[in-house]
Amino acid sequence: MNVVLVGLGRIGKLVARRLLLQDDPGLNWVGAVEKTRDPELFSYLLNYDSTYGKLDRRVEHTTDSLTVQGSSDVPLFDDLALAIEETSPDLVVDCSGSQRSAEILLSLDRTRSTRHLFAQALDVVKRDNDSKVWVYGINDSDFERRKIPRFIINPGCLNNCLIPLISCLNEQHRITKGSFVSVHSITNTQPGLDKAQRSPRWSRASKSNLVPAAHDSMGLVAHFFPELKGKLVGRTVRAPVDHTSYVTCNFEIKERTDTDSVLRCLTSTKIIPTVFGVDQEPLVSSDYLTDSRSCVVDGTSIRVVDGSTVLVSAWYNNEHAFACRMVDIANQISRAS
Ligand SMILES: NC(=O)c1ccc[n+]([C@@H]2O[C@H](COP(=O)([O-])OP(=O)(O)OC[C@H]3O[C@@H](n4cnc5c(N)ncnc54)[C@H](OP(=O)(O)O)[C@@H]3O)[C@@H](O)[C@H]2O)c1
Repeated sequence: MNVVLVGLGRIGKLVARRLLLQDDPGLNWVGAVEKTRDPELFSYLLNYDSTYGKLDRRVEHTTDSLTVQGSSDVPLFDDLALAIEETSPDLVVDCSGSQRSAEILLSLDRTRSTRHLFAQALDVVKRDNDSKVWVYGINDSDFERRKIPRFIINPGCLNNCLIPLISCLNEQHRITKGSFVSVHSITNTQPGLDKAQRSPRWSRASKSNLVPAAHDSMGLVAHFFPELKGKLVGRTVRAPVDHTSYVTCNFEIKERTDTDSVLRCLTSTKIIPTVFGVDQEPLVSSDYLTDSRSCVVDGTSIRVVDGSTVLVSAWYNNEHAFACRMVDIANQISRAS
């Protein structure tokens, strides 16, 4: 299946690296779209990463393409419509987070069979009737052969972590309401030093501060668990680490329970181990640099208060694990096509 990648930033770069390294020939990377058409710069940025280190395979460049020995050249475009016209992809993987890019994709000829996978639940995409949210490992059966919609939304790293966790707990201990705080690593939406941005806190230096973000009403969690609509609220605090985030949840549950039974419930889940796990060691964020699970429960964090309030925390590598899920979904689409 031919794939065009839009946006070679943090997530797009990690997706590109996986496409270049994976043995499975199911995904054939045929083009990339960036705001700046600079193959020399992007080959350099693919080869070296300050967080994850050097790529095992050398990416070179020509005046208009990225080149890797043993693979076809990957032309770089600064025009999405032109990239699609010239490469005729089966799948566009959009890691730009750009509303504009999504609008262009939605406006292109609807009769074409190209599918689009987005790294974020952008409103413009959610509104389209032929779009569906895919939390890999949770609702994979909605995307069996012939059921794959034109627009597929991977709803973000935090949803990829919380939805499996809630799904797992809800099976045995019905959650009635809850809240969470996620301590999230920095992203490119934050400035390195103070700089005027879209809001006061978002204008403050990422490396020197804990930066509280707005409350989140958890619309997508309610999409999967309608009974929790309006009953879950959370917020994120950006912390000065380069990778990996940690979410702490407080859930009120219907049936009375204790710490051991919550731990048993989480360790005996049917969710695939490449997506969900429980770690019992007292680890810290740097231990999760290359952990590709969407949700790793910190087994040492579980507490039950008065039989009905569960406190539980989980790790998620918001970049690496999320990029792995983008490629997992792309591979699944390829197998089903
Ligand atoms: N970082 C995370 O932890 C994380 C986790 C899960 C999901 N996501 C989602 O993944 C998406 C990308 O996030 P990111 O952290 O990778 O952001 P990023 O590092 O800023 O990368 C985005 C890249 O896309 C480029 N771009 C922007 N608009 C474009 C357009 N119209 N056409 C082509 N390229 C365009 C940007 O170029 P410029 O820099 O020149 O604007 C940048 O290189 C977002 O939707 C985000 O919500 C991020």
